[in-house]
Amino acid sequence: MPPKRGLKLVDKDASGVDTAFRSDVVNGLSQPQKAIPARWLYDDAGSQLFEDITQLPEYYPTRSETEILRDNSASFAELIGPGRAVIEFGSGSSVKTPLLLSAIAPSAYVPLDIAGDFLRAAATDLAQKFPGLPVYPVEADFMRRVELPAEIAQMPKLGFFPGSTIGNMVARTAVDLLRTMRETMGVGAQLLIGMDLIKDRDVLIAAYDDAAGVTAEFNYNLLRRVNRELDGDIPLGKFQHQARWNDDCARVEMHLVAGADMTFIVDGRQFEMIAGETIHTENSHKFNRRTSNMLLFAGGWEPQARWLDSAGRFSLILAEARPNRSAP
Ligand code: AVI
Repeated sequence: MPPKRGLKLVDKDASGVDTAFRSDVVNGLSQPQKAIPARWLYDDAGSQLFEDITQLPEYYPTRSETEILRDNSASFAELIGPGRAVIEFGSGSSVKTPLLLSAIAPSAYVPLDIAGDFLRAAATDLAQKFPGLPVYPVEADFMRRVELPAEIAQMPKLGFFPGSTIGNMVARTAVDLLRTMRETMGVGAQLLIGMDLIKDRDVLIAAYDDAAGVTAEFNYNLLRRVNRELDGDIPLGKFQHQARWNDDCARVEMHLVAGADMTFIVDGRQFEMIAGETIHTENSHKFNRRTSNMLLFAGGWEPQARWLDSAGRFSLILAEARPNRSAP
């Protein structure tokens, strides 16, 4: 069943802890390669740290994507056209969404997010910037099929998924999401999606291991959250943040490296780590033209146009959900 609008999607136990967080952490720490899903990086402190990351000199994706949106308004207007309902997967950012909305003159804006607070803030902000534009916030998990507001049922649709958030998913999950987006928006919909590009390893590593240590804090914050919410005693000071390039998978990985042998308790269970062993906390996949096209095709989307920033670091791709045809 698709989640209903306004439905609370987070399932908390008697102590107020998200049950999925508890099981993800306990299962993840029990594997030979310890891992915690990246979605848990974003508690309030983590979300603020991510905002800080987007301002860092080394973290180019936000600036590059903003530049693309700012410099190509005429071609967005031509290829997307006016009158579409824009459905943004994840709450709108303060800069990127207005650039898109000003370029294409949409008929409605539908921010879609699981976090009600961010959603309401984004909706209010956008409504103020675009008086006269109907805004219909939907509180839902966009990883599942979503029932869109009846008011936009007859409007042509444009999905907007900036930031290269798709890169934080392994291919199987990314394809599932793209297919779900196609189901949510229907044949004829367009999708404008940000995908970060494969580039010089040093540039990539610096973007995920900045000199000021903000990304390291973002990573350590996950351990802080585990200790706080799951009654843990993980010795934070004994871990080192690491950003690694995995060339076979074309992704930057974030790890927390144990600096010494240790045992710790989380949720009443004991875990052991030896010096050098890691907890894998995030993947950030990078693409080239062929791999981004392949991912979109696999998800049921046909690429129509592609824009890069002036330094060629980041891509924004427009794709369309065309009817399924028989193919050789
Ligand atoms: C949200 N996401 C696209 C960011 C990225 O670049 O993969 C998350 C991030 N992790 C470390 N720095 C930024």
